Amino acid sequence: MRVFGIWSLLSAATLASVAHLPPRNYTSHDYYAVRITSSTSPADLAVHLGLTYDGPLGALEDHHLFRAPKHDNDIVDDAVQELKRRRRKREVGAEYSILDSVKFTQKQKLKPRHWKRSVIPRAGTETTEAVRAQREIANKLEIKDPIFEEQWHIFNVKTPGNDVNVTDVWLQGITGKNVTACIVDDGLDMDSDDLKDNFFAEGSYDFNDHTDLPKPRLSDDRHGTRCAGEVAAGRNNVCGVGLAYDSKISGVRILSGDISDVDEALAINYELQKNDIYSCSWGPPDDGKTMQAPGVLIEKAMITAIQQGRGGKGSIYVFAAGNGAAADDNCNFDGYTNSIYSITVGAIDKNNLHPYYSEACSAQLVVTYSSGSGDSIHTTDVGTNKCTSQHGGTSAAGPIAVGVFALVLEARPDLTWRDMQWLTVLTAVPFDQPSDWTKTPLGPMYSHQFGYGKLDAYAIVEKAKTWELVKPQAWFYSPWMHVRKAIPEGDKGLASVFEVTEQMLKDANLERVEHITVTMNVEHQRRGDLSVELISPQKMTSHLSTARRDDDAPYGYVDWTFMSVAHWGEKGVGKWTIIVKDTKINQKKGTFTDWRLRLWGESIDASKAKLRPLPTEHDDDDHDVIDDHPAHTTSIIIPSGTPNPANPSDMPTRPVNQKPTDTAQSAAHTSPATSAPASSTPSATAAPENFLPSPFPTFGVSKRTQIWIYGSIGLIVLFCAGLGTYYYMVRRKRAQASRDNYEFEILDDADDDEGGARTGMLNGAAGRKGRRARRGGELYDAFAGESDEDLLSESEDGDAPYRDRDMSPYNEKAQSDAGGSSASGSSGGKRQ
Ligand SMILES: *[C@@H]1O[C@H](CO)[C@@H](O)[C@H](O)[C@H]1NC(C)=O
Ligand SMILES: *[C@@H]1O[C@H](CO)[C@@H](O)[C@H](O)[C@H]1NC(C)=O
Ligand SMILES: *[C@@H]1O[C@H](CO)[C@@H](O)[C@H](O)[C@H]1NC(C)=O
Repeated sequence: MRVFGIWSLLSAATLASVAHLPPRNYTSHDYYAVRITSSTSPADLAVHLGLTYDGPLGALEDHHLFRAPKHDNDIVDDAVQELKRRRRKREVGAEYSILDSVKFTQKQKLKPRHWKRSVIPRAGTETTEAVRAQREIANKLEIKDPIFEEQWHIFNVKTPGNDVNVTDVWLQGITGKNVTACIVDDGLDMDSDDLKDNFFAEGSYDFNDHTDLPKPRLSDDRHGTRCAGEVAAGRNNVCGVGLAYDSKISGVRILSGDISDVDEALAINYELQKNDIYSCSWGPPDDGKTMQAPGVLIEKAMITAIQQGRGGKGSIYVFAAGNGAAADDNCNFDGYTNSIYSITVGAIDKNNLHPYYSEACSAQLVVTYSSGSGDSIHTTDVGTNKCTSQHGGTSAAGPIAVGVFALVLEARPDLTWRDMQWLTVLTAVPFDQPSDWTKTPLGPMYSHQFGYGKLDAYAIVEKAKTWELVKPQAWFYSPWMHVRKAIPEGDKGLASVFEVTEQMLKDANLERVEHITVTMNVEHQRRGDLSVELISPQKMTSHLSTARRDDDAPYGYVDWTFMSVAHWGEKGVGKWTIIVKDTKINQKKGTFTDWRLRLWGESIDASKAKLRPLPTEHDDDDHDVIDDHPAHTTSIIIPSGTPNPANPSDMPTRPVNQKPTDTAQSAAHTSPATSAPASSTPSATAAPENFLPSPFPTFGVSKRTQIWIYGSIGLIVLFCAGLGTYYYMVRRKRAQASRDNYEFEILDDADDDEGGARTGMLNGAAGRKGRRARRGGELYDAFAGESDEDLLSESEDGDAPYRDRDMSPYNEKAQSDAGGSSASGSSGGKRQ
């Protein structure tokens, strides 16, 4: 047993900056991402398993990459399981094996390609007239670029004001100096005369062809170069200029071939001390049917960049909102755009109109210009001296925001990733277009279609100059709310309330809210029928999810996390109401199972703030652990009268039969679910005389007595429900086990090094216990009489068919766990 080997002295992160991984070849080899304890030598592990050690996995602490010639089985996991089996049978002792150092392993799979988020512009020719003002500014700035006059998004001569308002920023000499943006895309033509002077080779890499330079090679590899031009095309005699024409631009190529989660994780962390902003104009298919989140390695990579990138200020991730609006898509079904770590940018066209493609969602922060109304973005193209007038979609909006953020960073390099989001919220400009504009409690207007409005470069840079940095991030996790109730169809909704108290936020060191996330489970026979709203204590409504006409998935939401930026700046104290609706009256029905609210925001006491622990593979944060914590079950569900959930304070207090709980946050009282008409316009309703709606007899007694009577009935119902729940959870555990077995193995056992830092209200050790034993043992303890071995073989046999089962509700989550590499995830086409 080696504990203090060389590896305890050299951290993986240190090595990552000096060592490049050898190119991957998925035709000849299979690859493993493995997390091991830091005292273990990955080389020794490789020898033990007969693998080749490729090197540390970028900036991901203690993660390493191994390979072996292509094979069918899972070498690492099989070895670990075999050791466990032999220990169980006492064929070997409990003495240390190097396999005990393996905390996580994931055999890499090729994932469905992401979609580029450009759209083919609708026809339209433009005769641009030069206007005196534009000429004057160009002269002052010595801009001689031939298509500058066509770049209406920079200076709109036809509809003055419909541009990003940047020229006065440039006139101050702020042009992006000393800032680097990295275009994560299909390449970047570093030989273009418009880009070569700003090109930053060190921050660039090609993860498709595994070469240092991200040269576009395929005929349609134009997307990344066009995006790069919007950010950093030089001030010269080629095409136009970028928003930050003196910034550096790098390119990481991932969209032009098959990659795995390992590649994507490395790509979005590439040179994270040198690349300041990552521009991502791609994502899961925008087909109105896909619901896909980044896999765990990618999620870890994002958090690593947020915590370590830019010298600890946090890398800035910018994602295009998505082009699926015409297909009813919503950017909250995309785990990249709805991450709290990314700034999601949607599009408006040159007339400030909503273009048919740009997706709405409560995670959208801001919009900026792109194609529509007969014109597109004019920018650099692939070739030494080539331009295009055809760049569009939310793909083209994202990089404009990237260019503006580069200007902001030149003015204030010390801004954190959250400061950038604050500045965006406070300076985006709402505009006169019909939408669901709502005044937020903080002050600014918010629309799900346009976020906080359109980006104004001048306004955001001015605000940044004197901006006082926000204190570090803090967060509050509610307990899981167990609803387990059928969702009424039509306009009605099923509401559930959680009240956040001042004390809870104090204990969580949380001063005010920035992002909120809701993780939830809803079972439904047709996912596209569902919609979800969240109403804050200050009466702001987030439409977390909207119905999608083409989404036929015969299951609902499985541990899915929605995000909203619409509650930015709220205090957070009071009742948070979630309303799940089944919008279609048809044969397809469902049940609202459970949900958990998380508030993320600014800390009260900066000195007490801590870094969020990296999500671990055994993390229960996104899983209800109801079976381990029956105390949090809301026991009785009694339909109320007709309170208006849109106005939670209108809702009568209902009896809650809740067991005393043992954790700090259990002081939270969760109101039971309420079936109530939930309209989006609040209307005061008189409290009903009856405790229950009219079909329930009052027995001619007082409300208090009614409560007693119905409470007793409730207890009986509760007992039956409890029994039902028990069997339900047993089923759920089984299903989860098969899902979890599928993508990666949780190998953590006793010496968990991260558990201590958990924040949630759930007792960490107990919470993990049920999930640790994946393939046998405790997991099936509920089934007395069945031996471990029987269950084990059943589980192993069951493995294969699950891989290809299209309709398994767990498949999709598994797919998202691995970044969409399951067989059911059909390959996305390109949009260009
Ligand atoms: C990858 O491996 C295959 C099969 O061995 C080989 O034909 C191919 O040339 C390799 N590709 C590269 C880029 O090395
Ligand atoms: C644009 O910039 C100017 C300064 O150049 C500023 O006065 C104005 O408020 C900004 N915003 C709009 C919408 O014009
Ligand atoms: C550029 O950035 C680096 C690192 O952030 C800093 O040390 C340097 O002073 C900056 N240079 C200029 C000209 O601002």
